[in-house]
Amino acid sequence: MGIGHTRWATHGEPVDRNAHPHPSGDGRLALVHNGIIENYGPLKKELMSRGHVFDSDTDTEVLVHLLEDILKNEAVDLLEAVRLALTQVVGAYAIVVVDRDNPDHLIAARKGSPLVIGVGEDKGEYFIGSDASPIIEHTRNVIYINDFEIAEIANGELLIKTVDNEIKTPYVEHLELQLEMLEKAGYDHFMLKEIYEQPRSIRDSMRGRIYPKEGFMQLGGLKEYDEKLRHAQRIIIVACGTSWHAGLVGEYLIEEFARVPVGVEYASEFRYRNPIISEKDIVIAISQSGETADTIAAIELAKERGATILGICNVVGSTIPRMTDAGVYTHAGPEIGVVSTKAFTAQVTVLTLMALHMAHLRGKMAQTKFVELLNVLENIPKLVEETLGCDEATKYIAEEIKDATNAIFLGRGIGFPVALEGALKLKEISYIHAEGYPAAEMKHGPIALIDENMPVVVIATRNSSYEKVISNIQEVKARKGRIIAIVTKGDTAVKALADYTIEIPDADEAFLPLLATIPLQLLAYHTALLRGCNVDQPRNLAKSVTVE
Ligand code: F6R
Repeated sequence: MGIGHTRWATHGEPVDRNAHPHPSGDGRLALVHNGIIENYGPLKKELMSRGHVFDSDTDTEVLVHLLEDILKNEAVDLLEAVRLALTQVVGAYAIVVVDRDNPDHLIAARKGSPLVIGVGEDKGEYFIGSDASPIIEHTRNVIYINDFEIAEIANGELLIKTVDNEIKTPYVEHLELQLEMLEKAGYDHFMLKEIYEQPRSIRDSMRGRIYPKEGFMQLGGLKEYDEKLRHAQRIIIVACGTSWHAGLVGEYLIEEFARVPVGVEYASEFRYRNPIISEKDIVIAISQSGETADTIAAIELAKERGATILGICNVVGSTIPRMTDAGVYTHAGPEIGVVSTKAFTAQVTVLTLMALHMAHLRGKMAQTKFVELLNVLENIPKLVEETLGCDEATKYIAEEIKDATNAIFLGRGIGFPVALEGALKLKEISYIHAEGYPAAEMKHGPIALIDENMPVVVIATRNSSYEKVISNIQEVKARKGRIIAIVTKGDTAVKALADYTIEIPDADEAFLPLLATIPLQLLAYHTALLRGCNVDQPRNLAKSVTVE
C-alpha cells in the first residue's frame, strides 16, 4: 500500500514543507488531499488550542490533525473517524488516508473533487486516482465514487458507505480506454500528438451522428430532449477557458443556424451573480475533463432553478456527464497535454452538430442547405489533415516571434473566438503575454500597444468580414506591427500586406474555427519549444481544475 499526490498549490507555496502526504502530529496517519478545506482557519485555531502543532501552510494538514484528534478522544476506528471529521469540513475534497497502526487499511473519500477506484485482477488489488488515466495500465474496471461517499479497503476487501452511514453497492464500469491512447506514439510531446490527432478526433466526434447521403443526422444522447430543443427560447452556455471559447463558437453557430438566442457565460461568474434563469431555459455545460469545479457549481445553480442541463464532455463517466440531464460526448480520446487542443475542435464539432440538429428540428434550415453542410462537415477531417501541412510555416514564424514579450490576436465574427483561443494557447505554454481581440475593437484601445515589436496574428480568411479585416490589417501595418495572417489558400490581397502568412483550405465560414485554430496551436507549440518551455506541463496549470 502506498499513497502519493502531485499537488497544485492553493494554500502555501510549492515547497517540501507543503508537499503531501501530510502526517498527523503523532506520525500515525498520513493523508493526501485534492480540493480546498474552506473552514480550515477556524478548525486549525481550535486544534491549536488543543495542543496540535502544524508544520505546513496548507489547508490539508488540518484534516489529518482533526482525524488524529478524533481518534485520541473518541473510541472509534479510522473509518468512523474519517466519517466524523468530514461532517465538520466545509469545502471540496478527495482524500486518501493510511494508518501506520493498521497497515492493511486505507480510507478514501470524496466531496466535490473526483475519485476513482480501479479494481485489479488479483483479489484485494485496488488503485485509487483522481481519474482513470493513471489506473488504466493496471485495470479497466473502475468504480466512480460519488460525493459524500467513503471507501475503505481493509485486508483486501472494499467497503463503500456514505457519510450518513448507508452502505452502498459499488457499480463497476468497464472502460474502453486503450493504453496506447495514453502514450506519445513517437511524438516528442503529448501536445503535438494531440494536435496531429485532430482529423481522427473530429471524425470520431461525428461518427454515427451524421449521414450526408441520407440527408439525416441524429444525436442519440439528446433524443428525449428534442421537444425541449424545438421550443427553447433561450440557451445559456457555461464553461471555462478553452471550453468557453468553444462556447462562443457555439453561440455563433446556434444563432446562425437555429435562430435561438444564446448567452455564453464564464461558469465561475455565472454562479456569483444571481443569473435570471428558469425551467424554460436550456443550459449547455461544456467541459473536457468533466471535473471543472466552477462549471459544476454553475450546473448546480442552473439545476436548482429548474433549467434543463445538457453536457458536452470528453471524459466518459466524469462528474459533469453524471449530473446533466442529457448530453453528447466528444470522442476526442484522452487529452494528456495540459493545454486543450483536440478537445477544443471536438467540442466545436459537437456544437456544430447541435446547431444543425436544432436548425432542423425548428425548421430553420432548408433541407438542401442542411445536406450541403452535412457534406462539408463530413469532409472537414480531410481539410484538417491538409491544414496540418502548415507545421513548417508555423515553425519558421515561431523563430521570428520567440523573443516577443507581447502578442495580439485579432479576428472578427466566428474568427474572434479563434483569436481568443490562439492567444490563450500562446500565453499558456510560451509565457508570452497575448491578448485576443475582435479586430474592430483594436482601434478602441489596444492599437496603442502596436509598434514594430508587436506580433499581430490576424484571422484573415476569405469570409463575410474579409474586406473589413483587410482594413484592420492596414491599420496595424501603418503602425509598423508585425503581421502574421491566417489566410485562405490562394489569397493574394492579405499576402501583399502581411509579413508572414499561413494558408488554410477554403471551407464554409461556419467551419473556420475547425481549420484556423490548427496553425495557432502549432505556432504556440513551436514558440514554447524555442523558448525552452515545458509544453505538456506548463507552470502553474493543472489539467483538471477541481478547485473553485
Ligand atoms: C486551456 C485549458 C483550460 C481548460 C479549462 C476548462 O488550454 O485547458 O483553459 O479549457 O480549465 O477545462 P474543462 O474543459 O476540462 O472544463
